[in-house]
Amino acid sequence: MSEVKIIGTGSYMPKGITTNDDLSKWVDTSDEWISSRTGIKERRLSIGENTSELASKAAIKALENANMKAEDIELIIVATITGDSFTPSTACIVQENIGAFNAVAFDISAACSGFIFGLNTSYQFIKGGQMKNALVIGAEVLSKIVDFKDRNTCVLFGDGAGAAILKASKEQGILYNYIGSDGINGKESLNCPAVQISNPYTKIEKKEESFITMNGKEVFRFAVKIIPKSIEKILEDTNNSLDDIKYIIPHQANLRIVEFAAKKLKVDIEKFYVNLDKYGNTSSASIPIALDEMNRKGLLKKGDKIILVGFGGGLTWGSTLIQW
Ligand code: ACO
Repeated sequence: MSEVKIIGTGSYMPKGITTNDDLSKWVDTSDEWISSRTGIKERRLSIGENTSELASKAAIKALENANMKAEDIELIIVATITGDSFTPSTACIVQENIGAFNAVAFDISAACSGFIFGLNTSYQFIKGGQMKNALVIGAEVLSKIVDFKDRNTCVLFGDGAGAAILKASKEQGILYNYIGSDGINGKESLNCPAVQISNPYTKIEKKEESFITMNGKEVFRFAVKIIPKSIEKILEDTNNSLDDIKYIIPHQANLRIVEFAAKKLKVDIEKFYVNLDKYGNTSSASIPIALDEMNRKGLLKKGDKIILVGFGGGLTWGSTLIQW
């Protein structure tokens, strides 16, 4: 059985920068409140580009980075909660956009853990021998489902896309995957309804908007518990210690969450890579965007062990151990 290696990364951010001061013109908030509670300074909001466009642009950069042609890709997975349409899937739209005519393409819905779920799924396809490679993308235009009148949520989120290319290899790459879900407590913490039932049997009085609602304190409590749990689980199962790990790339939700998690794990905060000050919370895109940024900065050296850790709506969570 072959190993599975990440051989290329890419990301694409919409050009429009929205600062905390910009937001304070739309809702009763301030740079001081947002910065001190979340660490977020600015985010990118799409000006007309849909999720598949961001995803395709990130994919093309990942293909260039991996020195691969789109037609050689066998599997495309897009993790998103803000796909262009119910059908076709965003992955199928990406397939057409980039010319990956020989790929199988489908979407995964696991909110901010989506990229970790996508990595794990494509890992299984390659490890099992059914595919030789995969393009995994986390892409979101969250501004489609953010209520810009709700200061509790609109200050947190941003749009963007990140991608990685996985390939069967003789060398070790992805060493371990762990994923989990809790549908019992999920709906209360973080929610965004889809289209309501309206047919000849069920008539709705007033159509609800599809906006994200969140119990911020609940999500905070969940996040600071699940990050250490997901990291400790992967370390235990692979007989590694935190000293063996060069970097941890967490889902970029909130700096205070990362600080709390680092404290609980008794690990230097510097081990966590953080870029949420520039992009806010881009849900499934946040981990691959950070991974690509680190890759392009030359921070990741051959043999480095890194942990990716995600958590989000569902509830869902998961972690991946990679040897670069
Ligand atoms: N600007 C100014 N005031 C605000 C804002 C804002 N943007 N948002 C809320 N407030 C107010 C509230 O209305 C409240 O006012 P009140 O006391 O008069 O009612 C006050 O600030 C305090 O609100 P709290 O919710 O208690 O603030 P808290 O300290 O808990 O911080 C926050 C809120 C930042 C959302 C925090 O709960 C948090 O970080 N939660 C994690 C949520 C998260 O990161 N979600 C990301 C999505 S989920 C994911 O990615 C997995």
